[in-house]
Formats: sequence, C-alpha cells, structure tokens
Amino acid sequence: MKTLNDLPSNSRSAAAERLNAHLAGALDLALCVKQAHWNIRGAGFIALHEMLDGLRASLDGEIDTIAERIAQLGFPAHGTLQAIQQTTSFDPYPLEEVDISKHLAALAQRYAALGGAVRRDIANLDEMGDPASADILTGTARVLDKGLWFLEAHLSPA
Ligand SMILES: [Fe+2]
Repeated sequence: MKTLNDLPSNSRSAAAERLNAHLAGALDLALCVKQAHWNIRGAGFIALHEMLDGLRASLDGEIDTIAERIAQLGFPAHGTLQAIQQTTSFDPYPLEEVDISKHLAALAQRYAALGGAVRRDIANLDEMGDPASADILTGTARVLDKGLWFLEAHLSPA
C-alpha cells in the first residue's frame, strides 16, 4: 500500500513480515490464555481466573499496537484465524486439560518461547532500519516477560 513514510520499502516489507509473525504468535497466545481462564479447576481458581484476564488484556494491547504498526508500514496485518494457524509456531493447546498446574506450565512455555522470538527480532528490526518497530517489540518483550513471571511465580516458590 502507498505511504509517504520514508523508510525504504525493503525495510518496511521485512519489518512487516517479522511483525506479522509475532502478531500470529501473540494472537495464538491470547486464545490460549482464555482457554485456561475458562477451563482451569482446583484450589486457587479465582485468583488464577482473574490473573489470566489481566494477562489477556496486556496481550491485547500489544496485539493492537503490532497490527497497527504493520498497517503504518503499508502492509496488511494478518489477523485471521487461518493466518494465525499458518504462521504460529506453537503446538496445539490442550483442549481437555483442566489441571491448573498443567495450564500454567503450558502457558509459561508459550510466553517464554514468544518472548525469546520477539527479543531476538528487536536487534533485527533495528538493523533493518526500523527502530520504531524495534521499540514496539521491546514493549512486547516486556509484557511477555512480566506474564512469564506471573505464571512462574504461581508454579514454583523458588
Ligand atoms: Fe471471563
């Protein structure tokens, strides 16, 4: 799409491709968080049920920021279920699981994986000449690291 943004077109397209990859991961993770929010059972239910809504809200903020950045770069944000499925690197989330610890472990593994992938692309986007997108991913990494901390603090006292 046309834009007067003066970033070189190859920088814009490379950045949009990386951002779309992380958009798919974050959308997948957002769905997993709600899957846990709805289905966990056991002691500590209400604290975790409510904590998971907070994690989802934080993810939703990042998702919107990333998608709108892709549009600002002159490319379509790929936010459909089919696009997520083609792009996400996560394994399918367990549908029948209700155990709180298993949900927390499944979410922690995904927060860590996406956090690492996002963090590795911060420097890449800087090198592509798009520090504003790198800054967005820096914020996303911060949100993912905080979510991982919340999950791990519930999973293990040490
Ligand atoms: Fe709810």
